[in-house]
Amino acid sequence: MDLDEKKVAVITGGASGIGLATARVLAGSGVKLVLGDIEEEPLKNALEELHAMGASAIGVRTDVANEEDVIALRDAALREYGGAHVVFNNAGVVGGPCIATPKKVWDWVFSINIDGVVNGINAFVPLFLEQNEGHVVNTASLAGLGGMPGMGAYCASKFAVVGISESLFHELAMSQKNVGVSVLCPGFVKTRIHESARNMPNELVSYNEDPMVKIVTDVATNAVNAGIDAADVGVAVANAIRDNRFFILTHERVAIRTTEQRLGWMQGGPPLGVNIEAATKP
Ligand SMILES: NC(=O)c1ccc[n+]([C@@H]2O[C@H](COP(=O)([O-])OP(=O)(O)OC[C@H]3O[C@@H](n4cnc5c(N)ncnc54)[C@H](O)[C@@H]3O)[C@@H](O)[C@H]2O)c1
Repeated sequence: MDLDEKKVAVITGGASGIGLATARVLAGSGVKLVLGDIEEEPLKNALEELHAMGASAIGVRTDVANEEDVIALRDAALREYGGAHVVFNNAGVVGGPCIATPKKVWDWVFSINIDGVVNGINAFVPLFLEQNEGHVVNTASLAGLGGMPGMGAYCASKFAVVGISESLFHELAMSQKNVGVSVLCPGFVKTRIHESARNMPNELVSYNEDPMVKIVTDVATNAVNAGIDAADVGVAVANAIRDNRFFILTHERVAIRTTEQRLGWMQGGPPLGVNIEAATKP
């Protein structure tokens, strides 16, 4: 899809990190932006920054776990700009080793990372099919291509996003419409993802005092800070929309190696290795 001033892109989790970085890149091509985010102050700041660079952008306070919020986000795009052509289902949070993580924490991670993507697909894909034009980008992770210790709920949610995206790919191909889908699988990127607990419901916050959770958060913080710039991810997302490419692998070497090692494991070889440092490199 051409990215120009005739296009409208809706980005969830658009107030910071990868979402905002992608908004900046799309704005550079003239694309009009509708940012949805649960955090109001960062959303306001993001809009001010985009307006200062001459972009056309609005923001809507959105909890992607809530279906009505995502429908309202779509309707805001239709009301303000008369259409929508790209939905970037990107909002996400981290949390939860497999061992001793309360079910409510798994539910919280799934409600944002999985339900948020499902809500985005339900709100936008029928519109894209009807107008015979559109592109969906879903944010998964390298953690959706191989399991990692300390990140059970996150890995499960990101495997789900890869699975949903692959299924959607086949359904869209069968529809023979001009609607594409991409799945973004980054390694570590310098954002605030390791501070996801900032958006946790109050009744779950004490979970972050668990010693195992603290260790995982420390490792994740170091890896995120050693990661690639979000701007590079924004460019990769924009290019994938233009080229209608399915996999967006910003850390291509480790993505391919992980997949090869999984195949070897399935065939009776050694289990998948875990190399946090490698996952910080492009
Ligand atoms: N940063 C990394 O290393 C990395 C690696 C792989 C995948 N990802 C994925 O990238 C996506 C973006 O994360 P990021 O790294 O930019 O982190 P970030 O924390 O900087 O940005 C995430 C944004 O999502 C918003 N958000 C959180 N819960 C929400 C909700 N319920 N509804 C709407 N918005 C909500 C936050 O307010 C924030 O603005 C996530 O899906 C994350 O899992 C990040």
